[in-house]
Amino acid sequence: MLTVALPKGRIAEETLEMFETIFDKKFEFDDRKLILEMDSFKFLLVRNQDVPTYVEHQAADIGVVGLDVIEEKELDLIKLLDLGIGKCKVAIGLKAEEQMDYDRASIKVATKMTNIAKNYFAKKAIGAEVVKLYGSIELAPIVGLSDVIVDIVETGNTMRQNGLKVGETIMESSAHLIANKQSFYAKKMEILKLYEQLKSVVENRK
Ligand code: PRP
Repeated sequence: MLTVALPKGRIAEETLEMFETIFDKKFEFDDRKLILEMDSFKFLLVRNQDVPTYVEHQAADIGVVGLDVIEEKELDLIKLLDLGIGKCKVAIGLKAEEQMDYDRASIKVATKMTNIAKNYFAKKAIGAEVVKLYGSIELAPIVGLSDVIVDIVETGNTMRQNGLKVGETIMESSAHLIANKQSFYAKKMEILKLYEQLKSVVENRK
């Protein structure tokens, strides 16, 4: 039995579609249920940011989560496969009429991804005061809470519609299959079989 943590929403749906392609049957959660048992799999529906936590604590053997979340949490996990879904980037957002001044000594940054933001500005040798927010990050520069933001950009519409523009890309992200280290050794055959099956679905989709 493999326990698989999936992030609620589109990535979980797209991952289950991949399982449907592999096993040629429906993989669907009932209404509000958070657990689905099918064949030799137990799927858990969790919040995106919680997927690595379930996998790190071995409450799930494997999981699907964005590279941005793995990077932010800096956890010790095995990254197995880029599933090619949930593509987005982590980028700077700044007021549409402003330019990013990389010569300045310090800058105020609002973000939910504080580690990614801190690492990025540290590499540029800019002192950053990082303000942690949990959502609606795009508001921060508009109301003077911060100079810039670091956030997820998919289409760029949220930034544009809130008077911001998309600046430098910090990292590209997409959903990855991850595994707990102990699980990977204890259930190596099972995990590698699934890895191969998912890999061929991903390659056929290209
Ligand atoms: C992200 C991000 C933006 C939006 C960007 O939020 O925080 O608000 O998506 O998408 P766009 O470039 O296509 O406009 P998400 O939907 O991931 O929700 P979250 O705040 O719960 O993480």
